[in-house]
Amino acid sequence: MRLNKFLASAGVASRRGADALIGAGKVRINGKQVHELGTIVDNGDCIEVDGKRVAPPAAPTYLLLNKPRGVVTTLRDPQGRPTVAQFVAGRSRVFPVGRLDYATSGVLLLTDDGDLAHGLLHPRFGVEKTYRAEISGRLSPQDVRSLLQGVFLDDGRAAGAKLRVLAAAGDRCVVEVTIHEGRNRQVRRMFEALGHPVRALTRTRFGPLRLGELAPGQIRTLTSKEIDALQRYRRRATESPRTTPPEVTP
Ligand code: URA
Repeated sequence: MRLNKFLASAGVASRRGADALIGAGKVRINGKQVHELGTIVDNGDCIEVDGKRVAPPAAPTYLLLNKPRGVVTTLRDPQGRPTVAQFVAGRSRVFPVGRLDYATSGVLLLTDDGDLAHGLLHPRFGVEKTYRAEISGRLSPQDVRSLLQGVFLDDGRAAGAKLRVLAAAGDRCVVEVTIHEGRNRQVRRMFEALGHPVRALTRTRFGPLRLGELAPGQIRTLTSKEIDALQRYRRRATESPRTTPPEVTP
């Protein structure tokens, strides 16, 4: 971890404030004065500011919730509806990364790691999200083409989606759709635009995180493997952001 992040996470100062402390020669690592702003801190290093040892910051919390339908993706709702706060009560200062609609269930990451959340949410990086949508009607070949090429929505053409029809029976079908944009109600609007209203929607994947067997309302801590995968995913996304911006309606 960079020294300024270490100091900021430990509550010593803001990142800028930490840089100022480093620049002023007030920070020592293992007894040696540090001047380089980009200095990396390793586990077990002894960090001192003004001669006082700084306790290492607590490790961030990463939680995976299967958000049920009928719950808003905020910690407080002015309208008094149930929120995701009920599932994280007493578990540090986590916040949801991104949003799922009130009526949508599925994978929701909650964390107190602001850097990670910021990286994942930046529109240039476009985290891939997969949804299982139960829709009215059957998709025609033209509908499939539109979804793959990008459906025209009222806020511009959506980027092309990845698509798999999982089941079809009677007047409905179940479709797995993967998108990397995060527009409001995007999946519902894409199918609505094609005349196939969504009856039920579940997010089954967010970047490298999968819903697995987690039941609606269940929450668990990410495994260290998942945390590593998430950090790697974030790093990759930051190093090679998507270069094709979403097309807009001509
Ligand atoms: N698309 C939607 O329509 N709803 C969600 O909650 C997420 C994506």
